Amino acid sequence: MSIRKAIFPAAGLGTRFLPATKSSPKEMLPLVDKPMIQYVVEEAVKSGIKDITIVTGRRKQAIEDFFDISFELEHELEKKGKKELLDEMKQISNMAVVSYIRQKEPLGLGHAIWVARDLVGSETFAVLLGDDIIDSEVPCLKQMIDVYNKYKCSVLAVQRVAKKDISKYGVIDAHKLESNVYHVQDMVEKPEASNAPSDLAIIGRYILTPEIFDCLEKTKEDKSGEIQLTNGLRLLRKKQAIYACEFEGERYDAGSKIGFLKATVEFALKRDDLAGEFKEYLKKMAAQYLDLPVLNTPKSR
Ligand code: G1P
Repeated sequence: MSIRKAIFPAAGLGTRFLPATKSSPKEMLPLVDKPMIQYVVEEAVKSGIKDITIVTGRRKQAIEDFFDISFELEHELEKKGKKELLDEMKQISNMAVVSYIRQKEPLGLGHAIWVARDLVGSETFAVLLGDDIIDSEVPCLKQMIDVYNKYKCSVLAVQRVAKKDISKYGVIDAHKLESNVYHVQDMVEKPEASNAPSDLAIIGRYILTPEIFDCLEKTKEDKSGEIQLTNGLRLLRKKQAIYACEFEGERYDAGSKIGFLKATVEFALKRDDLAGEFKEYLKKMAAQYLDLPVLNTPKSR
């Protein structure tokens, strides 16, 4: 059976982006002009998934409004003859069937996924974390679905990360099977660099068999009182094989300020309508802040 459903955990408080996230969801912060959650939902849709469950919390209504129709806005755009923009707005509300469920307390990623169990039922599903924005020719989730179709078991997205950053991630211990596919032997959530089993970090894309729900139910809270998905996966691994896919693509940790800035700059540079003027501006900034020579910058600027 093909993968039809995806869960998007979006209940977090977004403390790393306060005060911007005091009254609006972190998932709605824009990279150039598109909210982060749109990039991730589009990745799922391009990978063939149309049934989406967003796990929300209090103060997240803006996400629901975003995927709904906006009657007044569409009416105004139509009246003003802005057809292209109107079509773009309609496309957002039409691209997927979106359901919402609330995680009432911030009890961790594993708990957020468990909360959506009845909406998923007994089929294999995907999980996409909105902080990880991946720019790739073939959508990252599609690359993982290809691995799933071959091996029919849970698949984690992984990427090699620098030793200094490894303690921010779930890290796998694994045997290589193919150039980009690993058989996971074990994994650990946010190890110290000296204890990390490898430099292969789990990135926020998962394909999970429904047996994960039972495992999450049995997973004990960690020291901070959270149910970690990585610990649920350790229980699942005892029952079923888990594979990892080292995907191709550029990944941005848009949940951190520096990752968010990098994604904003690089996405702007890829936009035909912005790249020209923005490049000139960056050259000027490089000269001003990095002591680099100003190249090809018109004198009049
Ligand atoms: C979560 C997971 C972690 C994974 C990471 C990927 O951590 O718990 O295993 O490596 O996402 O972004 P978080 O970043 O939510 O702390």
